Amino acid sequence: MKRIIIAIDGHSSCGKSTLAKALAKALHYAYLDSGAMYRAVTLYFLDNRVNYNDPDAVLEALKQINIHFERIEGQNRTFLNDIDVEHDIREMRVSEHVSPVAAISSVRRAMVKQQQAMGARRGIVADGRDIGTIVFPDAELKIFLTADLDVRTSRRHLELAAKGIDSAWDDIQKNLAERDLIDSTRADSPLKQASDAVVINNTLLSEQEQLHKALSLAQAKIKELSEA
Ligand code: DC
Repeated sequence: MKRIIIAIDGHSSCGKSTLAKALAKALHYAYLDSGAMYRAVTLYFLDNRVNYNDPDAVLEALKQINIHFERIEGQNRTFLNDIDVEHDIREMRVSEHVSPVAAISSVRRAMVKQQQAMGARRGIVADGRDIGTIVFPDAELKIFLTADLDVRTSRRHLELAAKGIDSAWDDIQKNLAERDLIDSTRADSPLKQASDAVVINNTLLSEQEQLHKALSLAQAKIKELSEA
């Protein structure tokens, strides 16, 4: 069977990682959480007091940053310089700074290079904002996920609570709306739907229904390419 790249893009908290992880599991593919990489860079900048408005300081800091992923007890964990930061990168203080950090071109260049290397052998599901447009423009399946802002806020609220991170619903909604705006209006690689992406609006879909739709698309594409 041909191994493909599946790119999932969309606004913050619309269920990209839930879908990407489920798809990767069903297809026995790797999962790439590109947002975790921008979050890890942001955490490094905050903890090391790097002024990310200073291009030289950013370039210097990028040389000190090493990010990798591991699967531990069935969970994807993000490591920053060999320390497991999976919990810390989801905190509000990181969410509040990650969009401006992800708008910096030198940061994006470094992350995209690493992401492309991770997908070189295909057989990967990656989620983010620029996966189908910049990172893997030749992905065989591109999905653009959308969902209403209120639904996204409630989902993020639950997700954070489940991780023991307590935040106010209004603060979460404000943060999502701000990130949506910065992510889709930045000059470098803004979030936009690839022209060949399939749109799935999951506002009224369960996780199972969403997975069923995406898996059908993936299996049809794999079959088509394997028979070609
Ligand atoms: O998916 P997430 O919410 O964890 O992503 C965190 C931030 O990283 C998001 O606000 C935008 C940025 N991001 C990006 O610019 N490009 C990606 N491919 C993934 C995330």
